[in-house]
Amino acid sequence: MKAIVIGTGRMGKAIVKVLAEAYPGEIGLYSRDQEKAASLIRSLEVNAIAVTAAQQFEAPIIIHTLWYKDVLPWVVLHREALAGKILVDITNPFNDDFTDFVTDYNTSSAEEIQKLVPDTAVAGAFKNTYWVVFDQPEYNGIQSDIYVTANADTIRSQVMAFLQPIPFRIFDAGVLRNNRTIERMTLLEKELAQKAGNHPRVSFHLWGVDAR
Ligand SMILES: NC(=O)c1ccc[n+]([C@@H]2O[C@H](COP(=O)([O-])OP(=O)(O)OC[C@H]3O[C@@H](n4cnc5c(N)ncnc54)[C@H](OP(=O)(O)O)[C@@H]3O)[C@@H](O)[C@H]2O)c1
Repeated sequence: MKAIVIGTGRMGKAIVKVLAEAYPGEIGLYSRDQEKAASLIRSLEVNAIAVTAAQQFEAPIIIHTLWYKDVLPWVVLHREALAGKILVDITNPFNDDFTDFVTDYNTSSAEEIQKLVPDTAVAGAFKNTYWVVFDQPEYNGIQSDIYVTANADTIRSQVMAFLQPIPFRIFDAGVLRNNRTIERMTLLEKELAQKAGNHPRVSFHLWGVDAR
């Protein structure tokens, strides 16, 4: 398997769909309820694999779709299994009523996770793209962006190459520290979209710049 998606919620469903379409038979999906993963794969009509708990880290790239409060204990619990892997973090550390973040301005979800798993290469991605966008990542002919971050150039390159076949513009967005901005862009995006009445079908597209 090229990658395993952890979780079958809104983002798990959205991400496994685009990845399994790009890599049929090579993407795993893990749920704490294996039948839930199997039935989601059937309903999406994609060729993906519902993996067991024992198999959930058997790929070089693990994409978790947990909430910030859940992902911190989860990485600690699985620190050994995650060692040597790339862990893609998609989290925006919202508070309970989604009005603000629980992290300070001098850090980000991706950085906090990286501190807990120093032997894992944490990469940020998908943070600004709401789940409904995955069904149709173009709006008026403009494609949604995905900003990829990681501290090592080699890890960013690996994640970007992996994501290249999915129908988004993939950007090299630099080191994990940039998630302090990228994650908070989601807060602004949400407020603007709610005012415009278009929430949650929103994402970013950096106008005037071509992705590499
Ligand atoms: N929703 C969006 O549009 C959006 C956009 C960008 C980023 N994000 C980020 O994506 C993450 C998920 O958002 P979501 O809307 O997809 O949430 P969600 O629908 O609630 O899905 C979260 C999933 O995480 C899994 N999970 C929960 N606790 C777990 C645990 N202890 N161990 C293993 N798996 C666990 C569950 O899957 P199983 O029941 O199958 O195990 C659950 O369905 C959040 O961090 C959010 O900030 C969301």
